[in-house]
Amino acid sequence: MAPIRLVVHAPGAPGLRWFGLGPDLRPSRALLKLQRLFDRHAFWARGRSFEQLKRLLRGSDAVVSLWRGKRLVGFGRASSDGFSRAVLWDIVVAGDLQGHGLGRRVIEELLHARAVAGVERVYLMTTNSGGFYRQMGFRDADPQLLMVLRR
Ligand SMILES: CC(C)(COP(=O)(O)OP(=O)(O)OC[C@H]1O[C@@H](n2cnc3c(N)ncnc32)[C@H](O)[C@@H]1OP(=O)(O)O)[C@@H](O)C(=O)NCCC(=O)NCCS
Repeated sequence: MAPIRLVVHAPGAPGLRWFGLGPDLRPSRALLKLQRLFDRHAFWARGRSFEQLKRLLRGSDAVVSLWRGKRLVGFGRASSDGFSRAVLWDIVVAGDLQGHGLGRRVIEELLHARAVAGVERVYLMTTNSGGFYRQMGFRDADPQLLMVLRR
């Protein structure tokens, strides 16, 4: 497989957000590529507008992207208060590259990010990838109950 570059963005990913920067801070139309990655491979994040993507990036304390040449092939982000609780969001690897350890790289990088490393508990929500996260060391939160206010 061609080499995969992992990019650790600054908190809020300002370069990606404003200028579409990718590896080596090169303009890479990264926001458009993130929109496509979500549309194709992240069922919970389909149809996000540029404005919505910018807002979710701005609200993220850790942001990681994976690139194969000019192609955005993976992504993940986390929000955190820095010591007590962090939550991972929008973890995704392009379908044709799943099963090659890329998801693991995204998770490991997020867990080592300054905003996340050392927090007491890291949470995430998943519909169908529990097996993957168990491999990453996460455990079912039982007896905790996930609750939601739908709007
Ligand atoms: C979930 C996802 C991020 C995993 O990324 P990936 O690159 O395919 O996973 P990796 O290749 O890094 O797998 C790491 C380990 O987890 C295991 N694994 C991966 N998916 C698994 C699954 N669904 N069930 C059980 N184990 C799984 C792998 O076998 C591997 O184990 P190993 O290290 O012992 O070989 C990716 O499949 C994906 O983007 N899926 C679609 C989007 C999605 O549903 N995201 C979850 C949010 S709800």
